[in-house]
Amino acid sequence: MSSKAVALVSAFIALGALNQVAAQNCACGFVDSNNNVWRESIVSIFTQNAGALAAVNADWRIASDSGVSVSNTGFIGTRQYISQNIFQWNNALGIKTSAYTGDNVIRTGEIDTLREDILYGTFRMVAQVPSVPGVVFGFFTYINDSQEQDIEFLSSDPTYYQTVHYTNQPGNVNGNADPQATKDVNITGADFTFFKEHRIDWLSTQTMYYFNQTLQTTITKNVPTTPSLVILNVWSNGDPFFSQGPPTQDAIATIQNVHLYFNSTSFSEAAFNTACVDAGRPAQCPI
Ligand SMILES: *[C@@H]1O[C@H](CO)[C@@H](O)[C@H](O)[C@H]1NC(C)=O
Ligand SMILES: *[C@@H]1O[C@H](CO)[C@@H](O)[C@H](O)[C@H]1NC(C)=O
Ligand SMILES: *[C@@H]1O[C@H](CO)[C@@H](O)[C@H](O)[C@H]1NC(C)=O
Ligand SMILES: *[C@@H]1O[C@H](CO)[C@@H](O)[C@H](O)[C@H]1NC(C)=O
Repeated sequence: MSSKAVALVSAFIALGALNQVAAQNCACGFVDSNNNVWRESIVSIFTQNAGALAAVNADWRIASDSGVSVSNTGFIGTRQYISQNIFQWNNALGIKTSAYTGDNVIRTGEIDTLREDILYGTFRMVAQVPSVPGVVFGFFTYINDSQEQDIEFLSSDPTYYQTVHYTNQPGNVNGNADPQATKDVNITGADFTFFKEHRIDWLSTQTMYYFNQTLQTTITKNVPTTPSLVILNVWSNGDPFFSQGPPTQDAIATIQNVHLYFNSTSFSEAAFNTACVDAGRPAQCPI
């Protein structure tokens, strides 16, 4: 390599380092494609060299319980979240429901943000849906069953690779689907078995659901108003009308990354404004 080339490479490295510093200094927050400003972020890159589980352990809790009865669905037995169902998979993060062994236990997987104080934000994951029938793959905000916004993929849907269920819970009224709160969307031409971005924008008056940077639907009913956590899971309870299953083979969702940009009840607007001034008012980071 000539000395000129070395100098050029060094310049590029220096520029790269500078860019990185600039990218990291988001003390004045993040601005999204709709000009919404968010004060905080959690970025989980499951493809990083340190491994997917290192990114999980930094910001998420791996669900684990001793099992709950799901016999009301007709499946005689329990559904149990186990930590082994969160794992390094294909250079990314795997979340699975295990192949059913016939022992009356459906073994499922889930990660929850450690933060439970998230109030409004834009939440994005790049993922591949499971293709083994009999599970639900969920990406959602949650604090209780009536403060919840869901993206759900049902691997038993005939066109599971392009059908998505968007719901602001409760999605039912008197036992019937509420068309204002839950929308089943077929996206012609989409293939969710490829890595693509799925996104929930939680605003105070509406929830906007996106696929591949394109708005699919807006729901204004049942918009949550309470600080929440963000969850990813793959589960089944044998319900013949929803998850179906349990799956006869491991049903695995593969997640490359999750980007959460949000406001919280722990970091006030006043504290944020002070932090921004103290940092010398760097430009907002575009997301
Ligand atoms: C969910 O949380 C909201 C806000 O705290 C509360 O008003 C509501 O009663 C809760 N609902 C359930 C089903 O627990
Ligand atoms: C989506 O496509 C499936 C399969 O063609 C069909 O059964 C279902 O009714 C469609 N749903 C909507 C909401 O269009
Ligand atoms: C995703 O968006 C890109 C850019 O707009 C577009 O070229 C591509 O066709 C889209 N893919 C799908 C599967 O919708
Ligand atoms: C989030 O915080 C920013 C900066 O404090 C504020 O401008 C914005 O209105 C907040 N968004 C929501 C939906 O409350």
